[in-house]
Amino acid sequence: MDFPTDLIQLLIKATRVSVLTGAGVSQESGLRTFRDSQSGLWAQYKPQDLASPAAFARDPKLIWDWYAWRREAIKGVRPNAGHYALAEMEKKISEFTLITQNVDGLHRMAGSNNLLELHGNILRVRCSVCGTFTEDWGDDSESVPLCGKCNGLLRPDVVWFGESLPRAELEAAVTASRACQVFFSIGTSGVVQPAAALAHAARNNGAVVVEINAEPTPLTPKVDFAFHGKSGEILPELVKAIWG
Ligand code: APR
Repeated sequence: MDFPTDLIQLLIKATRVSVLTGAGVSQESGLRTFRDSQSGLWAQYKPQDLASPAAFARDPKLIWDWYAWRREAIKGVRPNAGHYALAEMEKKISEFTLITQNVDGLHRMAGSNNLLELHGNILRVRCSVCGTFTEDWGDDSESVPLCGKCNGLLRPDVVWFGESLPRAELEAAVTASRACQVFFSIGTSGVVQPAAALAHAARNNGAVVVEINAEPTPLTPKVDFAFHGKSGEILPELVKAIWG
């Protein structure tokens, strides 16, 4: 892929770069994105209908099982070339912040360190009542495991629709978006707030905004550069074009 020279020159000199990623970045690792069509076991449910406190209150076992199924799927999955390219970028740019909506842990596995997990991490489990984290919840397939401390129902440490994002992560993400010279929006449909607003915060503060996505999104008309294709292919090519 040919990248515009002005973008390459800008990235060679850039010292502050922020990146927002979404489910599309993990698609080439074999994980489904959120808004694609589902098949198989969970085909009758929309993820949006399962990822909410109301759904958990209505049928905790259904929600626990859906996350257990996703957790198992993630265990066999490895980062792809896009994740590794972003970890490489972090080494080259002095202030590099990777903000992700993904809960799959693949950025960290690929070596990214300055990482803000805005929507939590599916591999962590906490009590829905007292908030205590646990790494040991047994494997009783009959019922939702309970908190060892208060007997509350355990739940995944992810942010559900209608819940607040972790405050420290969100504040750091807003700060990094406002302060950066270049902002990337990669593999996200850009329809879920407040993450979707970060690109606009960057743009309003003078950053050059770059989108990498399989297809156009509502953000596309607002960006300075848009590249349509797979992030696992475009990102390594971009890193090569900048740093050889
Ligand atoms: N490379 C780049 N982009 C891709 C690829 C790929 N290989 N495959 C798919 N995409 C794009 C799709 O075109 C789509 O725009 O990734 C985007 C995925 O969008 P969503 O499924 O909406 O995922 P995301 O934006 O991360 O969703 C945000 O919504 O359900 C909630 O909490 C959940 O974090 C999630 C949030």
